[in-house]
Amino acid sequence: MIDTITLEVARYRPEQETEPTFERFEVPFNKDWVVLDALNYIKDRLDGSLSYRWSCRMGVCGSCGMMVNGEPKLTCATFLSKYVPGPIRVEPLRYFPVVRDLAVEMTDFMDKLKSVKPWIIRQEERPLSEGEYLQTPVQLDNYKQFSMCINCMICYAACPVYGLDHHFIGPAALALAQRYNMDSRDQGTDERLDLLSQHEGIWGCTFVGECTKACPKNVDPAGAIQQYKLKAATEWFKSFLMPWGRK
Ligand code: SF4
Ligand code: FES
Repeated sequence: MIDTITLEVARYRPEQETEPTFERFEVPFNKDWVVLDALNYIKDRLDGSLSYRWSCRMGVCGSCGMMVNGEPKLTCATFLSKYVPGPIRVEPLRYFPVVRDLAVEMTDFMDKLKSVKPWIIRQEERPLSEGEYLQTPVQLDNYKQFSMCINCMICYAACPVYGLDHHFIGPAALALAQRYNMDSRDQGTDERLDLLSQHEGIWGCTFVGECTKACPKNVDPAGAIQQYKLKAATEWFKSFLMPWGRK
């Protein structure tokens, strides 16, 4: 068993570097440690200036996503022991601009989430006196999988289509749209479909499926996109047969 393991950590301090570089750190090897523990060790004991994001340390907040040996991972759920004897290369999430060291700019991702109208849309609201909108366990199951997303952006770092075209709305935003489309209380599918049927929406996806493989929460964004494509194709066919109305 080894006592220490080497991390090669990407550094980018815009006030002193024009290009990212790598810095090597030797950290204690503990079989219970995840990559995030090693980064915290570096920050606490070796170099307090190292910048990265994390919060919950339990796969819930979605903020600790980074590239680990070339693959997008939640660093709080990725054990050092998987990479023995090392070295382990840690880089910021691919395809996003780097703000500093391992922290990336999230604005594009947040804008994409917002653009799919991720809220319940009603054509007609019921008066409060009629009570809440009830839902059966089966109706909940219809969309529950898509609601498990923690916005970690790992599926974007895994998606070659997003890598080539940043206008592509991307896997998590499409899964989020489907989370609301499949909700029995929602009546906004057509509104979202108009937006997402554009090239940058569902049709940009060439079904590589890497998003679903990489997702740490089993959300299956690739499945959501396929469902969406089927729906869009059906609606197009209906509008062709019945041009007077799309319902
Ligand atoms: S779909 Fe999965 S990989 Fe993508 S942001 Fe959500 S949890 Fe992360
Ligand atoms: S620290 Fe919250 S998901 Fe990793």
